[in-house]
Amino acid sequence: MNKRYDIGVNEVEFFLDSANLEEITQAWNMGVIAGLTTNPTLVAKEGKDFHTLLHTITGIVDGPISAEVIALDHEGMLGEARVLAGINPNIVVKIPMTEAGLRTVKVLAEEGIKTNVTLVFTPVQALLAARAGAAYVSPFLGRLDDIGENGLKVVEEICDIFVVHDIETKVIAASIRNPYHVLEAAKLGSHYATIPFSVLRQLFKHPLTEAGIQRFLDDWKKLEA
Ligand code: E4P
Repeated sequence: MNKRYDIGVNEVEFFLDSANLEEITQAWNMGVIAGLTTNPTLVAKEGKDFHTLLHTITGIVDGPISAEVIALDHEGMLGEARVLAGINPNIVVKIPMTEAGLRTVKVLAEEGIKTNVTLVFTPVQALLAARAGAAYVSPFLGRLDDIGENGLKVVEEICDIFVVHDIETKVIAASIRNPYHVLEAAKLGSHYATIPFSVLRQLFKHPLTEAGIQRFLDDWKKLEA
């Protein structure tokens, strides 16, 4: 899965996938994330009022912050999306990949509200979302792997289609489960990978880095002795 090295059109960036304020603050201060994604499950875990939480997050993260609608009907999604977008210009409204969802994406795009179409599992779904006017599409690669399919292959196909057809919609490799997913998503040309905090921390670590630091410190102590 290395074939996209030559294209060089995308510069992968990372989002944190979390609604936890401690994780968000820590990740933002690490200097390696460009934005944030949340979902109803992540928000529910925090047990806080959604809009208040979003207000707080916008004071920490200076980049795109995806916040999801709960309604499933067009009018309901539209109403929620407008309220969410009104909280802060950085809010990107997450809309589920349904017929009503795409209809909503179209209207929101006309209003200048950015959307992230979520729960994408096939390249054709991603293509439809892009055509409806989504700013981002989120293929859930980990959940595809969970059912014995190849999530990275789907990310690869979406990236290929978007390049071939010169589509501006950005691809967010989502449902990332491990550092290998991050590496491969980057190699395939995904614009973003949205990463849980536990995986983000794994990315820093290597046994040789830790052993190297220890050896430097031990040698330095010899100088001081
Ligand atoms: C992305 O936007 C989603 O919030 C997330 O990546 C879902 O991941 P999960 O499959 O681990 O729940």
